[in-house]
Amino acid sequence: MSVDIQKTASQMDALSTVLKHTGFFTAEIYTHEELGNDETGDGSECKPFKSILRAMKHAGKEPFPVIFVQSNKENEKWVPASQSQLKKIKKIWVRDQYKEKAKDQKEAQGEEKRLKHLDDAKEVVITLDTTLPKPEKVKIKDCGNMRGKRLLIHGWVHRLRRQGKSLMFILLRDGTGFLQCILTDKLCQTYDAILLQTEAAVTIYGTLAEVPEGQNAPGGHEIKCDYWELVGNAPPGGIEHVLNEESHIDVQLDQRHLMLRGELLSKFMTFRSILMQAFRDHFLSKGVCEVTPPTMVQNQVEGGSTLFKFDYFGEEVLLVNFFIENYNKLSILQAYLTQSSQLYLETLLSSLGDVFCIAQSYRAEQSRTRRHLAEYTHVEAEYPFITFEELLDKLEDLIVDVVERLMKNPISKSIINEFNPNFVPPKKPFRRMDYKDAIEYLKNNNITKEDGTFYEFGEDIPEMPERKMTDAINEPIMLIRFPWEIKSFYMSKCADDTRVTESVDVLLPGVGEIIGGSMRIWKTDELKEGFKRSNIDDKAYYWYIDQRVFGSCPHGGFGLGLERFLTWILNRYHIRDACLYPRFVSRCKP
Ligand code: 4AD
Repeated sequence: MSVDIQKTASQMDALSTVLKHTGFFTAEIYTHEELGNDETGDGSECKPFKSILRAMKHAGKEPFPVIFVQSNKENEKWVPASQSQLKKIKKIWVRDQYKEKAKDQKEAQGEEKRLKHLDDAKEVVITLDTTLPKPEKVKIKDCGNMRGKRLLIHGWVHRLRRQGKSLMFILLRDGTGFLQCILTDKLCQTYDAILLQTEAAVTIYGTLAEVPEGQNAPGGHEIKCDYWELVGNAPPGGIEHVLNEESHIDVQLDQRHLMLRGELLSKFMTFRSILMQAFRDHFLSKGVCEVTPPTMVQNQVEGGSTLFKFDYFGEEVLLVNFFIENYNKLSILQAYLTQSSQLYLETLLSSLGDVFCIAQSYRAEQSRTRRHLAEYTHVEAEYPFITFEELLDKLEDLIVDVVERLMKNPISKSIINEFNPNFVPPKKPFRRMDYKDAIEYLKNNNITKEDGTFYEFGEDIPEMPERKMTDAINEPIMLIRFPWEIKSFYMSKCADDTRVTESVDVLLPGVGEIIGGSMRIWKTDELKEGFKRSNIDDKAYYWYIDQRVFGSCPHGGFGLGLERFLTWILNRYHIRDACLYPRFVSRCKP
């Protein structure tokens, strides 16, 4: 093999120039007071450091390579730093070196000490004293009258404070409340005690006592621990190592499963549970029967634009059509997530009478607003043989009664007081306002569209103007009698003015619409006309139409958004506070 010596040498020269310019060689280090940077520089000509001290640190040890500084002369870029400059800065470098070494040493000693401490802790063993009275297993909420008793409580370390070697405070959380636990001596010197982190799951044994005078703790008591067990530890720093309350909202939503352990969201979720129960109790107290309709459906209720389609056992499944006359025809199965259970509720009137359900509804809402979710909990009810007036009375009654129930329950009452201290329970009767009068109100109060023109009869009143009006009036409003053209296919027309429907939206200050309801068309021909007007093929609605065929009667009902109700009563800005794992555009996790 022959080697071209000259070519190889020139390649080597080129390579060394490149390496020198990129700071790979430390034969010389460049500094420049104006153009250099101690953080981002690398000491090369292209990326000089700012200071000589940084250059010395970069070199690490003596003898230093030549350190260049910028030259003051014209036609000369670099000049080696003067001896006097180097001498002065070297003194600082020596002092810093000494300090850093001392720090490293201290850290190493600290680590050694920590490891020894842990090793020693492994020797500390605690045992359950079987001569003590058998502990009673309780939840924190039931501790109230347990003072003086020996208890066993499972929970999570909400907060942790160590005081010296022989005292540790745990604020225990078990989902029903918080309890202060005091661990002393060996109990806080075990290996597990030393490594214990917030969010760890633990079991506490001990005797409940009143907190000493002048001290505060949840419930006014604390448990003096005589034994404890670590069930499952957590990473150092608990949740704080993942996020805190200042984290970006998307981080908080990604970590919703951890956020839910926080005091704020767990209060809202506790409230939500009581709220759902209050709705159930309201309906059941009036003899309304609870049902559970399916949420996988084949029909739209509230317009095709917000339908979620999904693949039901294969996208293009062929299905035998149930119509007798079309018995041999096949059609493509189209499945959706339900927008409302209303149509199913209507089918139950003749068998169960008044019916209600609390079920999930879905809306493919394109916008990310503070009151729209893609999945929400829908409280819906349907009543046979009622008039429009009676329907409106039922709505007022529902809201007033549910609020009363919430104010009677000490937990929900205290949560309302905490988050909405100025809350005044609404009183019956609510203001009833015709749609046409709302159009007048908007005109009289100069509430216009974006282009500055006024809303006219026949147009939908969007969220913003509706909210402006509701907030200004600042009391519940039942907005009624909306034009036929802008409402759903199933709404019946008013007898005294067929341009408008027997429809209602209940609007509440701060959140806007929380209920949508109406009387339903109960004559077959009229319903078919409604389908036609909404361009809906009524074949898939044969079962719904049958309600008008087999013993039809006037009937009506409504749907209430549970999250909007919670947002209103707890005075939250955003609806996402009202649900466990909110779903909206571009958010379907966790
Ligand atoms: O007014 P809507 O669309 O009415 C219906 O679905 C009727 N079929 C109900 C019925 O008569 N049984 O919705 C009713 C309520 C609204 O007033 C609102 O509170 C809530 O459902 N809602 C939503 N909540 C959160 N996010 C959304 N995207 C919502 N869409 C409606």
